[in-house]
Amino acid sequence: MSATNTGPVTVRVPAKVNVQLAVGGARADGFHDLANVFLAVSLYDEVTVRPAAGLTVTCEGPDAGQVPLDRTNLAARAAELLAARHGLSPDVHIHIAKDIPVAGGMAGGSADGAGALLACDALWGLGSSRAELLSICAELGSDVPFSLVGGAALGTGRGEQLTELTVGGTFHWVFAVADGGLSTPAVYGEFDRLHEGVPVPAPEASGALLEALRTGDASALAAALSNDLQPAALSLRPSLRTTLDTGLAAGALAALVSGSGPTTAFLVKDEDTAEAVAQALRSSATCRAARVAVSPAGGAVVL
Ligand code: C5P
Repeated sequence: MSATNTGPVTVRVPAKVNVQLAVGGARADGFHDLANVFLAVSLYDEVTVRPAAGLTVTCEGPDAGQVPLDRTNLAARAAELLAARHGLSPDVHIHIAKDIPVAGGMAGGSADGAGALLACDALWGLGSSRAELLSICAELGSDVPFSLVGGAALGTGRGEQLTELTVGGTFHWVFAVADGGLSTPAVYGEFDRLHEGVPVPAPEASGALLEALRTGDASALAAALSNDLQPAALSLRPSLRTTLDTGLAAGALAALVSGSGPTTAFLVKDEDTAEAVAQALRSSATCRAARVAVSPAGGAVVL
């Protein structure tokens, strides 16, 4: 163990899009088995930690008002869990510079959890192994391990058991940010309601999709994108259909709801098309903002 750092320590951590989200039936513990293909994208939060008298959280950014600053924030929970494992008191101030859409299906909260974990590990000089950090991430939430790892990965179990994937090129994306969030449990609940009495097959990763990632083929990836939560998200928020159609009409190769939504994701062939699709979405009034990004992006990193 190295000496405790006097800080501050800043970690940059990416957002994600699910290029495949295959959802199985509800399990006894209330979670769903998944075949969840995560791809990290170049929208980032930065989490800064410094020693303090107690545990406090602050947040800046356009959506900062929607971020909880109490112990429900995954960044605060990450600091508490790491401190508890080492018999420490989580005396740390956590500041989140938030650029990832909030409650949007892009794992912004999970990113802050992974970021705070890595930052506190460095601040407290703990030198935790990757395996130790990943196990705390899995305790924090199903998407948190991927936020730490970044790149591309297949998540199985409830999404937390990761197999890293090779990506053979750069993919260009546009993300349309909707007004207001969607609750992840509510979207899974709607998935269950829509499948009531219908057998749900075991989730499986698509071979065509993994091959498209491996070869970096955007057209093949566009043809293979899928999200089993999309009908549930559209059922709760029917206006998202218009957003998807707007991006497609403006030249996107494919469009889908990102994770549990309501952010929508548009795969495009290149940077120029990304700008054109983003502009069309912005002027359409079918979304609050449109952001351009590329993937894969790296995982959580100390700056
Ligand atoms: O793991 P996390 O806290 O992010 O999950 C939030 C909620 O999403 C869970 O409480 C559950 O309702 C739903 N969920 C699920 N199956 C998964 C992941 C999440 O039902 N594999």
